[in-house]
Amino acid sequence: MRAALYRRYGKDVVEVGEWADPIAGRGELLVRVRAAALNPKDVMTSRGKLALFSGRRFPKQLGYDWAGEVIAVGPGVEGVAIGERRFGMIQSWKAGAIAERAAVRVEESARLPEEIPWSSGAAIALVSLTALQALRDEGRLREGRRVLIHGASGGVGVHAIQIAKILGAHVTTTSSAGNRELCRSLGADVALDYAADDLAARGERWDVFFDVFGNRRLSFAKPLLTPRGRYVQTVPAATTLLDVARSALSAQRAKLVVVRSNARDLETVAEWLRSGALRAVIDSEHALADVRAALERQASKRARGKIVIGL
Ligand SMILES: NC(=O)c1ccc[n+]([C@@H]2O[C@H](COP(=O)([O-])OP(=O)(O)OC[C@H]3O[C@@H](n4cnc5c(N)ncnc54)[C@H](OP(=O)(O)O)[C@@H]3O)[C@@H](O)[C@H]2O)c1
Repeated sequence: MRAALYRRYGKDVVEVGEWADPIAGRGELLVRVRAAALNPKDVMTSRGKLALFSGRRFPKQLGYDWAGEVIAVGPGVEGVAIGERRFGMIQSWKAGAIAERAAVRVEESARLPEEIPWSSGAAIALVSLTALQALRDEGRLREGRRVLIHGASGGVGVHAIQIAKILGAHVTTTSSAGNRELCRSLGADVALDYAADDLAARGERWDVFFDVFGNRRLSFAKPLLTPRGRYVQTVPAATTLLDVARSALSAQRAKLVVVRSNARDLETVAEWLRSGALRAVIDSEHALADVRAALERQASKRARGKIVIGL
């Protein structure tokens, strides 16, 4: 089958090549992938920034987000029909979503509603799980609470705005000036420009500071938080781990979200997609042959929403 792959770590190393057909193992589905999506994780893994986890055996596959139809089920899988439309996020460092076929764990997938396009299913999995787990679990965001989403126009941010609204929160966003309207259109109550607006000068307090882009610290967020407010980070840098450890016993805590793929949260996301409460925001769609250019767009850190690969 055709798949996006790379034979060494680096920039411009991704190519489309032949890969052995996967087989559905125990607890797995074999899926004909119809769309996949990129994430910063694909940039980092292909460049070798996460080699400690992804290892040094080559060639390697690319992609964690997929949507497609089931063509075979492995032993131990019950309740999933051949032909069923599903979507999900691959947890394993092996990746493999950007390929004509993929073997995926059934508990890392959910049924994709009939009316939702493949591209939306693929676009939404990893980022919605991240936003949901960051806001609901790490941030304890609830009805009536206030959240500040910093770096709100990228893949995680555009879905975090919508999920925060679904959870009943008041949402303030920061983005570059040109993306404020996008944030507003997705439900932000207040859309600020991170370069021009001085958060401290506003005299406001938030229950959750969700640092999606990952260039702030707990020390920056603290004066902006309510007395028991939480600062939630996405980037597992040494500084983040230090903030998390140092604030573990404090009222104002730093938390790191580490996204976990699971069927329950994917089913929640699927229901929000079906009801129209949540929609996938897509920056651009590319053919498999253009995967290298698509990865460059992802690496630019300027995507407005998700970058999708059609298969
Ligand atoms: N821990 C986890 O489990 C987990 C899961 C998912 C993602 N992540 C991490 O979360 C981060 C965001 O992921 P993503 O998918 O949203 O990335 P993304 O789609 O690449 O984010 C692109 C956005 O970043 C914004 N941006 C660029 N420079 C900025 C700056 N200096 N300050 C604030 N925003 C800036 C851009 O908006 P403007 O053009 O408006 O500035 C753009 O819309 C990545 O570091 C990713 O690795 C972690």
